[in-house]
Amino acid sequence: MRDEPLVLGIETSCDETGVGIVRGHTLLADALASSVDQHARFGGVVPEVASRAHLEALVPTMQRALDEAGVTLADVDAIAVTSGPGLAGALLVGVAAAKGYALAAEKPIYGVNHLAAHVAVDTLEHGPLPEPAVAMLVSGGHSSLLLVDDLTAGVTPLGATIDDAAGEAFDKVARLLGLGFPGGPIIDRSARDGDAASIHFPRGLTAPKDMVAHRFDFSFSGLKTAVARWVEARERAGEPVPVADVSASFQEAVCDVLTAKAIDACRSTGVRTLVIGGGVAANSRLRVLAEERAARHGIAVRVPRPGLCTDNGAMVAALGSHLVKAGIAPSRLDLPADSAMGLTEVSVPG
Ligand code: KG4
Ligand code: ZN
Repeated sequence: MRDEPLVLGIETSCDETGVGIVRGHTLLADALASSVDQHARFGGVVPEVASRAHLEALVPTMQRALDEAGVTLADVDAIAVTSGPGLAGALLVGVAAAKGYALAAEKPIYGVNHLAAHVAVDTLEHGPLPEPAVAMLVSGGHSSLLLVDDLTAGVTPLGATIDDAAGEAFDKVARLLGLGFPGGPIIDRSARDGDAASIHFPRGLTAPKDMVAHRFDFSFSGLKTAVARWVEARERAGEPVPVADVSASFQEAVCDVLTAKAIDACRSTGVRTLVIGGGVAANSRLRVLAEERAARHGIAVRVPRPGLCTDNGAMVAALGSHLVKAGIAPSRLDLPADSAMGLTEVSVPG
């Protein structure tokens, strides 16, 4: 195990400052500082507030991670950092810090793709990813289905949301129900006391006519509007809004579409492994439904534990470790913070 590379990963693409340390596939430290409370009253992440919070949290989070792993920066073989996609100012803080640490400690640096890191993190729990695999990434900013032939070389997009991301839909529906931010975990909890079959909300892009151009794409904005209309109608009629039933029915609509399309993607490509990542992968109903439906078709589902699904530094370290082991060249030291980094770019070239 000593022969495995010791890689430190820094994540600052959104509102979590994360520093993770892994040796090979073994997680040694996963230190996290979140600015989520500072955004709650705005109902969404405020980029400027997030950047400032990263600046304050980065050095202490770094120290906590090193202490937790019982290593020093000198022991580390490589530093990985999220280069994109994400909030430009937030990314800049992590990228600048990583460059500083890499220069000071004379370590190679890997600027990596946040979305590929959401896939790579699963290896910390379940070992090497069988390839090819289908990955479903569902977070606050992204909802995509990807074919992963070789994670070090890039992934092939199969489909993506054409409007809101899945996590964004959870956040918006939670806001209109007056439940707080971020909405995903609150709706997940509220749904436990509700009846998922009580209201039938629309399933976007699942009609036969959508199967041609949008078979693996998602749309959640119509669903969000349908929930808003349903709630408004109740309020206009002076009737109480059954929050738990709305939560459960909305959650069911999202999870139904996500799992149906993910399984369809596996079957159409002949792939037997589905890996789910991103914050929405923490959803309890999504995890159960994906397992149930995949089992019927002999497909194995891999979902990391909820704490590794949401943004963290361990995922960046996991991808970095994968790249080091594959002999991929480090990035150049002037690597950018690339808010629109594309999925075909797993790491910034050297
Ligand atoms: O991956 P992530 O931490 O950050 C981004 O890269 O966006 O994902 C955050 C998103 C938020 O929209 C949050 O509401 C959602 O993930 N989320 C959940 C759950 N936990 C977090 N959505 C549904 N159910 C959950 N349990
Ligand atoms: Zn993320």
